[in-house]
Amino acid sequence: MALTHLRVVLLAAATLQLLFLSSTDAGEVGVCYGRDADNLIDPTRVVDLLKQNSITMVRIYDTDPTVLRALANSGIKVMVALSNKDLDSGIGRDQNSAQQWVNNNVVSYYNQGVLINGVTVGNEVFKQRSDLTGMLVPAMRYVQEVLKAANLADVIKVSTPVAFDALGVSFPPSAGQFRDDIPQSVLKQMIDFLRETGSYFSINLYPHADPSEHISLEYATFGINGGVFDEGSGVTYYSLFDAQLDAVYYAIDRVSRSSSSVSTSMAQQNGPIDTIVSESSLAGSGGRIPSHSMATLANNEADQLVPKEIAQAYNNGLVRRVLSGAPRDVSAYIFSLFNENLKAGPPMERNFGIFYPNGTKVYDVDFVHGGSTCRSKATWCVAKKGVENARLQAAIDYACNNGADCSAIQQGQACYQPNTLVAHASYAFNDYYQRKGQASGTCDFSGAASIVDRPSPS
Ligand SMILES: *[C@@H]1O[C@H](CO)[C@@H](O)[C@H](O)[C@H]1NC(C)=O
Repeated sequence: MALTHLRVVLLAAATLQLLFLSSTDAGEVGVCYGRDADNLIDPTRVVDLLKQNSITMVRIYDTDPTVLRALANSGIKVMVALSNKDLDSGIGRDQNSAQQWVNNNVVSYYNQGVLINGVTVGNEVFKQRSDLTGMLVPAMRYVQEVLKAANLADVIKVSTPVAFDALGVSFPPSAGQFRDDIPQSVLKQMIDFLRETGSYFSINLYPHADPSEHISLEYATFGINGGVFDEGSGVTYYSLFDAQLDAVYYAIDRVSRSSSSVSTSMAQQNGPIDTIVSESSLAGSGGRIPSHSMATLANNEADQLVPKEIAQAYNNGLVRRVLSGAPRDVSAYIFSLFNENLKAGPPMERNFGIFYPNGTKVYDVDFVHGGSTCRSKATWCVAKKGVENARLQAAIDYACNNGADCSAIQQGQACYQPNTLVAHASYAFNDYYQRKGQASGTCDFSGAASIVDRPSPS
């Protein structure tokens, strides 16, 4: 009895060690190219737009011939989709239909120079089309078989994007687990499939989908914050994104460990599967942040339309985070390339774009420098403790008058809380420091500031 218990504990420890010793290579940033609109610039111009902005990866929601032909020989990687509608129509229900679809819609384009790197089978099936749950993993296997026969299984990975609400528990991250009403056997078969084929678990991560109360706007948008402590693991998280991502890893680990002993040892041998973020964005600019999710904002602030600066802060933060490769390696697709005027739902749904339909920027997302300033190590500039108020205020004034954008710490704005001189100083100092590319000497402010790897919990 005691021995069995010990063995379980050791296995769990080994798995956890694998979970947290993943490499810190940088990930890659892509953008979701949704086309639920009737006013978008045509695909050849879209490809130019992608190149001009150094966007190297896109995810599309179908296998549209015009789009794929435009992307041929562009050097841009493309994740294509076998949609829920395709699944429903019977594609992927047997090997023959899968073969026909994959050959016509994936292999033929790959052979024409389209850098297809993945096929998503269904999208958010558990959430959007739970009636298709039973056929999901078999369809993934059929698609995989065809790719294998075409010798493309190493370059084109099969996955299925899962909505974050598939997690019944996401806080604290170490308690992460999938909802009970999603068949655990399906999750297990899926995870086994992804592991066997060297693919990855795909999660659609929207911070506002997290009902946890431990969320400040800074924490949700990769800003400076005191961090959120996970008592279960002893880890402090400095972004909601990383907390959510770890919750997914813990949930996957729970499913893997609940499997038979044979599979458990296999999981141990092969390590945890990778996760990619197949969609992420804070909110569409001009949309609303649901008030329940930003508990630290006053109600009236939470009910306001999301200023585009906040969506911009999130997406630029996401680029920095992915390119830094820390605290764990992950690739992510920003949702979305364009505002899509035909999407249903509240206005926010039609305003996720980083570009207007005509190709003009809604706001800047820096896909290049977002990474170069902190590719090796993300550092922050914060106010030192114990500096007298007058010196701090003088330093804030200097930063704000010399390039730092201090609009967010004005009364009523996103980063006004906590309303302390030290918090405002840290915001202003860091904004100045990051805008100067973390150059040496740009985090001093007459000795009122210092550089840290991570802002410490306040
Ligand atoms: C593109 O669309 C935006 C938003 O409708 C508009 O403000 C802008 O002037 C347009 N740009 C061009 C070049 O037409």
